[in-house]
Amino acid sequence: MTAYPPDRHDFSRSAPVRLWEDGFAPDPHRYYDALRAQGPIGWAELAPGVPAYVITDRRAALDVMHDTRTFSHDPRGWEETVPPDSPVLGMMRWRPNALFSDGAAHLRYRTTLIDVFDLVEPHDLRGRVHRAVRLLAGRIGPRGEADLVADFSRPLMALVLNDLFGLPDSQSDRLNEGLGKMMEGGAQAVEGETQFAQYVLELVAAKAERPGDDLPSRLLAHPAELTCEEVTWQVFLTLGAGYEPTANLLSNTLSRILGNPLYYSTLTNGARPVMDAVVEVLHHETPLANYGTYYAREPVAIHGVWLREAVPIVVSYGALGQFAERYVTGGRSPKDASHLSWGAGSHACPVKQHVLLLVTEAIERLTQWLPDLDPVLPRERLAWRPGPFHRSLSALPVRFSPRSPASPADPSGVRT
Ligand code: HEM
Repeated sequence: MTAYPPDRHDFSRSAPVRLWEDGFAPDPHRYYDALRAQGPIGWAELAPGVPAYVITDRRAALDVMHDTRTFSHDPRGWEETVPPDSPVLGMMRWRPNALFSDGAAHLRYRTTLIDVFDLVEPHDLRGRVHRAVRLLAGRIGPRGEADLVADFSRPLMALVLNDLFGLPDSQSDRLNEGLGKMMEGGAQAVEGETQFAQYVLELVAAKAERPGDDLPSRLLAHPAELTCEEVTWQVFLTLGAGYEPTANLLSNTLSRILGNPLYYSTLTNGARPVMDAVVEVLHHETPLANYGTYYAREPVAIHGVWLREAVPIVVSYGALGQFAERYVTGGRSPKDASHLSWGAGSHACPVKQHVLLLVTEAIERLTQWLPDLDPVLPRERLAWRPGPFHRSLSALPVRFSPRSPASPADPSGVRT
């Protein structure tokens, strides 16, 4: 048994901050404050009876993310300690993919993914995004009202990803449903994971039989010679890692823009780039709020805390951004105040440039098609979906002048 020196804080008997509670989604900052009150690393629960260390300090986060000798991304030791029906397993259980691997296996998967995503040229991605926006704007335009989460951000991501992964638009609802349930980590998480897995299995089997000009076919053909099963797991990862967080980044950014009339009018005038709003979201409402998950290879003390093995160490990108917000507002130097929303170190998000292009293009294009979007609710009355991992709007209702767009509206149009 490991002896824990008395000068180090050992959380095992402290009351955890319950990130699974109903109160977390409407007011995450209260929970981050409680975690921060415990020091750079706090003690939380991701689900009832599933404890985790949560890092709320930038230096401590980087120390963990950059130290692959001390910290692993492989959850299998932890998995043995949780009930097989735990709702967080859908998001956290081991699979042979880049995210849950270390060392040579990680390098092989990650390099292959980067190679195939690098073949997606910016102008090609832009074209796919424009096509999807046109389709959705054509669908909602005549109605004069819409929920930008259900009618725009989520279907847009399903359309763009299905397009990149070589599936027809008609399949996008299945993707939406399975992933949504899994990400909430609630009672339907297991069902969602099963639906999503079935979707991916069918997709890769179809591409193995009849390759096309799409991401799964390129993964199958890559000289790294991933097996069909390995490709299936990389597709499972990239669709999951891509769909929900990007849809949420899109909705959260739209809500910030629409919630601020001055911002929105300058935006449609072209004076303030959409990218500014995206960066604001990455600081203040980052979509992957608590999901950089590491495991100590053996008990280790950092920043005054003992971290046991087989207990998740979660980097709270949400809490880190909140700290940045206060730090800057307090008038002090912002030198340490930038967000870490793409992660850091060897597992950092490999496609952040693609994502930034996708989100900014989608918003710019939407506001050209429908230039007078008007939020139905003030921002403080918007509801957020439950779950410890994400920051995800339930709905973003808007009104606008009904339009049957044959072409985008005059881009100089501003809100009246
Ligand atoms: C099409 C969209 C996206 C795709 C395909 C994608 C893909 C990936 C992949 C494959 C990884 C694992 C890399 C590795 O382990 O080596 C990853 C990690 C990560 N991604 Fe993305 N991602 C997307 C969007 C986003 C968005 C919108 C965010 C948040 C703003 C995000 C944040 C992250 C973070 C924080 C990690 C590291 C997680 C960790 O350390 O455990 N990603 N992403």
